[in-house]
Amino acid sequence: MLSLLKSLLSRSTSNTRIQAQQLLRDNSEDDAYTVPTRVLYPFQWNWDSCFTSLGWVTFDEDRAWAEIASLLKGQCRSGKIPHIIFHKDSESYFPGPDIWQYDNPEMKTSGISQPPVLATTVRMTYERCKNKEQALSFINSIMPKIFAYHRWWHERRDPHNTGLVATYHPWETGRDNSVEWDEPIKAVPLDDLQPYVRQDLATINPAYRPTNEDYDYYVALLQLFKTHKYDQIKLYEISPFKVADIGINSILARANSDLLYMMTLCDSSEEDRQTVLNWLDMQAKAFEGFWNSDRGVYQSINLITGEKLDFVTSGSFLSLWSGLIPFESASIMASTLENMCHATKVLVPSLSADDAKYDRYRYWRGPVWAIINFMIYDGLKIYDQKLLADQIFNTTRTAIKTYGFKEYYDPVSGEGLGGDNFSWTAAMWLYWLDKK
Ligand code: GLC
Repeated sequence: MLSLLKSLLSRSTSNTRIQAQQLLRDNSEDDAYTVPTRVLYPFQWNWDSCFTSLGWVTFDEDRAWAEIASLLKGQCRSGKIPHIIFHKDSESYFPGPDIWQYDNPEMKTSGISQPPVLATTVRMTYERCKNKEQALSFINSIMPKIFAYHRWWHERRDPHNTGLVATYHPWETGRDNSVEWDEPIKAVPLDDLQPYVRQDLATINPAYRPTNEDYDYYVALLQLFKTHKYDQIKLYEISPFKVADIGINSILARANSDLLYMMTLCDSSEEDRQTVLNWLDMQAKAFEGFWNSDRGVYQSINLITGEKLDFVTSGSFLSLWSGLIPFESASIMASTLENMCHATKVLVPSLSADDAKYDRYRYWRGPVWAIINFMIYDGLKIYDQKLLADQIFNTTRTAIKTYGFKEYYDPVSGEGLGGDNFSWTAAMWLYWLDKK
């Protein structure tokens, strides 16, 4: 009886695996890059592709490396890797390349970036792949590009060497309408806002998406960047929205460590290695600035006012993934995380359920995201918080198994919400959750 049950269970797991692989194939374009989901997001997104390559490496190594190669085709001369690469035209997304008007001779792209998870996922892809020789030769060829990307963050987004890199747009954080941005975004003037038409509401319930007011600010910022020709150093001085996102800073710190690791495998120069060590050193010193001892978490900072953005969000726990924080803070954060999840069936809500702004359905203001959970899980493991990590693993797994590969999940019921057939959720299944 027990063995029958076990075999049924393992058969259903392998079915989910086959479905996840098929989903990636269905979302694949030209055997080169994967759209996050058809219609809603029909292009290549930066951090989506990085996470998606982790899915590919579990069953098609060449395709995993092709994903990264396609992403790097959009890299700008400055080193920036844009948040969207518009390989082909599509009418179903706003704002497209004609709105961005970003002067990138390499490719049509957006004019901002996204959380720099690339070095870390390249390392993970390398560690998971079988053909190490081929992988190392590819990694050697892209090391200067990854290094240039990190240099872009440190030099263009932290020109005064504070150890905190700035972001100028909520889309850049990847957590678009997180409550952290509500106050700082109000400094963006809306007087010259040009009329525009959203496309996302044609396919998704507006109650699950950022509001029209949020979009007004997003578009006004984009227009402002255009007026200043996306001059990064100038924008550091004048952008009305300028925050040090705990997510981006944690992800960059972790990526610097992973870049250092890969440098030991490649032909990198001692000078470049020293540069990365200096970046990490600066970040380690600055990191305490994110700590809020009253709340027991790390929080983003509004760089215009110098104030902490006082919320407990899933972004706060990405500090665990950085590997830069003391064990003591990690254990305090584990208690904060447990407390914030008392009313949720699926961990980790993107905003504490105790917060007045919590909304279990609306994008980054309550729902659970598989990629964020993966990073928090991995971070908790670094700090020996195994029980909590397992709880995240198990609840994410059950939600995906029950409701399929959705964009995000209701933390109370576990129901899948937002875009269907979502690539990074399928990739997380293949790389992380496909274990039982
Ligand atoms: C949304 C998400 C962002 C993601 C993009 C494509 O904008 O907030 O994190 O990269 O969709 O999936």
